[in-house]
Amino acid sequence: MINSAERFLSESGKSMKRSAIREILKVIQRPGMISFAGGLPAPETFPINELKPIILEVLEKDGAGGLQYGTTEGDPGLRRILVERHARQGLAIKVENLIITTGSQQAIDLIGRIFIDPGDYVLCGLPSYLGALNTFLVYGAKMKGITLDKEGIVPEMLEETIVSLREYGRKLKLIYIIPDFQNPSGITLPESRRKQVIEIAEKYDLLIIEDSPYREIRFNGEPQKTMYELDTTGRVITLFTFSKIFAPGFRVGWVIGNPIILDKIIMAKQTSDLCTAPFNQKIIARYIEKGLLEENLKKTIALYSQRRDHIISCFRKYMPENVTWTEPDGGLFLFVTLPTGFDADLILQRAIEKNIAFVSGSTFFCNGSGQNTMRINFSYSNNNEAEEGVIRLAGVIKQEMGII
Ligand SMILES: Cc1ncc(COP(=O)(O)O)c(C=O)c1O
Repeated sequence: MINSAERFLSESGKSMKRSAIREILKVIQRPGMISFAGGLPAPETFPINELKPIILEVLEKDGAGGLQYGTTEGDPGLRRILVERHARQGLAIKVENLIITTGSQQAIDLIGRIFIDPGDYVLCGLPSYLGALNTFLVYGAKMKGITLDKEGIVPEMLEETIVSLREYGRKLKLIYIIPDFQNPSGITLPESRRKQVIEIAEKYDLLIIEDSPYREIRFNGEPQKTMYELDTTGRVITLFTFSKIFAPGFRVGWVIGNPIILDKIIMAKQTSDLCTAPFNQKIIARYIEKGLLEENLKKTIALYSQRRDHIISCFRKYMPENVTWTEPDGGLFLFVTLPTGFDADLILQRAIEKNIAFVSGSTFFCNGSGQNTMRINFSYSNNNEAEEGVIRLAGVIKQEMGII
């Protein structure tokens, strides 16, 4: 019997880390646990009844197509429908600018596989989505974080970092950025900064990965143009997904970009999964065609907006002074900062004992900083759970501060 796989592992196999978030998700299955940890959509938003007749319809009208292998680029019907949907939203693209992936996570993985050699530097926000950091690390990337201010990545710091890495002879190709309601901070990058980041990418000949799963979950304020739209040199690769606007269980996302780059992603996808589940793609296509996505999304946005307001009012009511948090215009997360010197990991251990979970912010800092920060998800818990969760969390923090 083999007791350990270690001796068989490749270098990249050895470098893989178990996601801290997935580990916490195991704990939150415990009865009585209130979770602010995962980035989970509210199950109430899943349109189970509306999907039943659509699934039957797809089986009856195009069952063989749905159950057969499909093209790697994605179902032609879904690609066309998404192009039309982007056009309605003001973004003119052609079908050749759009491919389907098995969630955004696959797109991140394929991009890592195509572009990263061991030792290459990838620039990202401090903090940034853990799933991307871990993926780039598997391909041997060195992650270099740029501190975010209230408006996201600071272009001047980005440029300084690029210049200094170049001075040291480091190889740089990619900037990874989550411009809309960033995971984990909730911050949105204003259009002026988007333009500056694109100018910097042009000046130093870098590609930009614009990862935007939360873009359509906007509660208030004006949408900022996508970086894809602002770019004129075909260097922005934009990742979208149905995970937060519909249902993550379908595992369907899409990428828009320069066909020259998409072609490389397709080649990598052929060795990854051949195609994204055609059945799922056809169901989503029909769901959009019937106008149900927009209808359901409106309800989802209203629900999350109300949940954001509620959790913020609870934070204001129960959190001790000196604790601050972001108040995002959309997305799924608040980012909380405790006074310097407080350790969110320690607070998490105590919080789990009190049946309340969150994710320590340091998980998202590629340089290991951010010990005094926490990511709080507000989409999943209902109002009663959210209030009880904030009361418990505030209690643990006050105890750490010696207030009670
Ligand atoms: C910033 C970001 N990118 C990508 C993903 C992965 O999404 P998907 O479910 O489409 O793979 C997530 C999931 O939470 C995310 O927050």
